[in-house]
Amino acid sequence: MIKALITGINGQDGSYLAEYLLQIGYEVHGILKRNSIAENQTARLDEIYDQLHLHYADMTDISSLYRVINKIQPDEIYNLAAQSHVRISFDQPIYTANATALSVLNLIEAVKEINPKIKIYQASSSEMFGNSIDKDGFQRETTPMNPVSPYGCAKVFAYNISRNYRHSYNMFISNGILFNHESPRRGTNFVTNKVCKEAVKIKLGLSKDLKLGNLSATRDWGHAKDYVKVMHQILQLDKPDDFVCATGICHSVQELCEYVFWKLELDWKDYVVQDEKFLRPEELHDLRGDATKLKKATDWKLEYTFETMLDEMINYWIKYYTK
Ligand code: GDD
Repeated sequence: MIKALITGINGQDGSYLAEYLLQIGYEVHGILKRNSIAENQTARLDEIYDQLHLHYADMTDISSLYRVINKIQPDEIYNLAAQSHVRISFDQPIYTANATALSVLNLIEAVKEINPKIKIYQASSSEMFGNSIDKDGFQRETTPMNPVSPYGCAKVFAYNISRNYRHSYNMFISNGILFNHESPRRGTNFVTNKVCKEAVKIKLGLSKDLKLGNLSATRDWGHAKDYVKVMHQILQLDKPDDFVCATGICHSVQELCEYVFWKLELDWKDYVVQDEKFLRPEELHDLRGDATKLKKATDWKLEYTFETMLDEMINYWIKYYTK
């Protein structure tokens, strides 16, 4: 059996990836960091919990990573752990640099010492591009990286150090540069799931309004379930490389609100109010990815559209509040 280790296994992507790897016959290990509130920590893994091998470790503690990797001797590592909230990275910049940047160096140093043949998938992000856009309106692998948040800066370090170790030590480390990807398992402080959850609450009379930050930013939103398959496919290629993964279609936050409220037979303008609290000191305005390189290298296909993804998220919250 092929052994995979997933860092951040209890997050949105970690949980979908674990399900997918189990389905295709992998032995799946994951690391969990200690949390003072144990309840719900593994809620996204409930349905597969008994099939997983979970280990306590922390990305900022190289000794714990070394111990777990040495014990498991995985074939593949999927590094999905990070402080992944962009606005919060302005509140906790140093923690973000430790958890999102230096931790990647911890991981690949540990792998280099234990077995440099272990393949590593590094979760890179479209946030690394900042406001750089190619003339045709897209971001792709060759687009200059000009991050506009502590999170984006940390991800650029992780991206570069992964490439540096690939070239210096001939390690199999690949970057998936993923654009925004969502699902009902998305944290509700990210905009898609926040809008779906709060709009359903308004529809059911449980809330009166929805406070948001910048409505004009545009994002290229895909479904996390589609995107985790790419992580696996990238590690099955002959050579390590870097790939943008995106739908190529973008919508504004306002369009997101328009669709979700319309689906619930409401007018977003009656409920959405702007709150400065949710604005960022520097905003990344527009993201739209070109996944041509990925599509040439793999047979990756999207199963969800923006609309079917949001429908699933809306239905999740309706069930949640009416069961
Ligand atoms: N979270 C949030 N909350 N975002 C809001 C709000 C709000 O109330 N109101 C407007 N927005 C806008 C943000 O300013 C941003 O322009 C957009 O909605 C999307 O915000 P998020 O959903 O928080 O995602 P993100 O684009 O900042 O970051 C996500 O995508 C990256 C890939 O580009 C995260 O998943 C990152 O970890 C990921 O790397």
